[in-house]
Amino acid sequence: MITLGIETSCDETAAAVIKNGSTILSSSVSSSIHLHRKFGGIVPEIACRYHLEYIVPVTKTALQKANITFKDIDLIAITYAPGLVGSLLVGVSFGKALSFALQKPLIGVNHTTAHLFAAFSKKKKIHFPFIGLVVSGGHTSIACVHDFDNIKIIGKTRDDASGEAFDKVAKILGLKYPGGPEIDKLAKPLDKSSYKFSCAPLNNSLDFSFSGIKTEVLYTCQKLKTKNRKTKAEIAYAFQKAVVDTIVSKSIRACKKENISLLTIGGGVACNSYLRNQITAEAKKEKIELLIADTAYCLDNAAMIGTLGYHLYKKGFRSDYSLNASANA
Ligand code: KG4
Ligand code: ZN
Repeated sequence: MITLGIETSCDETAAAVIKNGSTILSSSVSSSIHLHRKFGGIVPEIACRYHLEYIVPVTKTALQKANITFKDIDLIAITYAPGLVGSLLVGVSFGKALSFALQKPLIGVNHTTAHLFAAFSKKKKIHFPFIGLVVSGGHTSIACVHDFDNIKIIGKTRDDASGEAFDKVAKILGLKYPGGPEIDKLAKPLDKSSYKFSCAPLNNSLDFSFSGIKTEVLYTCQKLKTKNRKTKAEIAYAFQKAVVDTIVSKSIRACKKENISLLTIGGGVACNSYLRNQITAEAKKEKIELLIADTAYCLDNAAMIGTLGYHLYKKGFRSDYSLNASANA
């Protein structure tokens, strides 16, 4: 069975072809990030217009790479929430039109839920139960996943998402957007810092808070007379360490609390090299099996949408043409 996945929730226009819900035949992504850079963040209207321009060529590229044609598609899976409404609407309208034209079934997929399953792209089979951590620009949550349609959120951010904090701190340090990869690069050669920041621990809760640390970095930077590269790198390192240590300790705590020994990680922040190293070491120590999505599937992509769409379809879920875009989950 061939599923065409479509993703347009933010600034990536993506299409992917998935065979039988597990083999990624192709994954094509075109990002409008270069157009947003000079504004220091995503401009929804620009993102939306970019999707309109690129949705057809990106889909055609995905079909070509998979060596199939429109006629071979059996199911169309599209992101319908959460995200920028104008952007989501492009994908939803395109998916509905394609479903109608090809007379093939349609399934709407939640973007954040799809990030939970992205790490399984390395494995052919999805195992339940698992603890899924999503750390992205728009979301930060820990879920206890028992099935494709049985997901309990056991921890989430109370304010900023982790990626948002990376982007905001990068802006304070005068780095370019998106800030996560810039902070990662700047901090990489270091193994200590003369600065120390912390995230609110929120006691025993598995929730996160990243807005306080951003303010802490801001006040520290305001007091500095000069911000040379060495100082910036030390601040980046200390910030990254505080955020990553919090994410790692809460994820491991979630596994222990739920007595589950499989942890998956997805979302753009899962590209972070320090996070990947730290969580790998901690999971090994705690004898927890760890699956981190390949970097291509951490960031927004349509392969994760096609994969989850296929499994939901197999469980009997369907969408009709009343499917609408929704900014919230
Ligand atoms: O999952 P994603 O592509 O989009 C959303 O669904 O939000 O994540 C984008 C986020 C951005 O905030 C970006 O700064 C962050 O992921 N990011 C990183 C790294 N690469 C991307 N954060 C930290 N370290 C990285 N290497
Ligand atoms: Zn995402």
